Amino acid sequence: MKPKINNDYYNHLGESWYTADNDPIAVLRAEQNAKNPWVDQIIGQFFSSKDLKIADIGCGAGFLTNYLGTRYSHVSGLDASASSLEVARERDQTKTVNYSLGNAYHLPYETASMDVVCAMDFLEHVEKPEDVIAECSRILKPGGLFFYHTFNRNLLSWLIVIKFMEWFVPNTPKNLHVLHLFIKPNELKLMMTIHKLQHLEIFGIAPCFDLAFFYSIIRRRVMSGFKFKIGGPKLLGYIGYARKI
Ligand SMILES: C[S@@+](CC[C@H](N)C(=O)[O-])C[C@H]1O[C@@H](n2cnc3c(N)ncnc32)[C@H](O)[C@@H]1O
Repeated sequence: MKPKINNDYYNHLGESWYTADNDPIAVLRAEQNAKNPWVDQIIGQFFSSKDLKIADIGCGAGFLTNYLGTRYSHVSGLDASASSLEVARERDQTKTVNYSLGNAYHLPYETASMDVVCAMDFLEHVEKPEDVIAECSRILKPGGLFFYHTFNRNLLSWLIVIKFMEWFVPNTPKNLHVLHLFIKPNELKLMMTIHKLQHLEIFGIAPCFDLAFFYSIIRRRVMSGFKFKIGGPKLLGYIGYARKI
């Protein structure tokens, strides 16, 4: 039987979303330093205005949502975890982000209402990613951008993203990630094509193998300075964007 993804983990993080260094959430927090400016830069290539409607689906505690909230005028975040949203709201310095408790399979936004929709580190947390992609596409305006970050499905990703993580960060709970929900890039591209999202660019995303990385491995903690870079092979994590036709 296939293991069930442990999404309940996010309900118990509280402030640890932003503070823990001995928890896998610290790896996600480190990733945002590479992902957030990258998303912002791509948005800037397609839109000259900051007056945009943006939805971050599966937003967690608002790592990307709050960042975008400081730059764009109408930013919304949706997540199924009420306690994570509480942290997201507290950490929203602008107090302008519109956070909603909800389910990504039924988004509470109007059809063709968004300029940008993000699903970061999220599609591998749902059993039916294609249904979520269909919803994201539904709410996008023609010409709007869909951003995603997820994990490839292969032996190496099982070994590194699941097994190595469980060893590296001792507080990693069972089934934080499950292999069968990882998505091959070509599968994702097909799902997007079916739902009128034209694939534009896709890149690998991986840790920088520098001193902070090796120090973190030795300490088995995510030390400050643990960095990710965008580019390179798409064998493990990958990030990309598509445009609504
Ligand atoms: C790995 S976290 C990603 C958080 C955020 N996107 C980020 O990159 O920091 C996955 C999030 O998906 C949320 N989630 C899982 N299933 C969901 C669903 N069906 N609808 C909405 N949110 C969901 C969890 O509560 C969790 O906050």
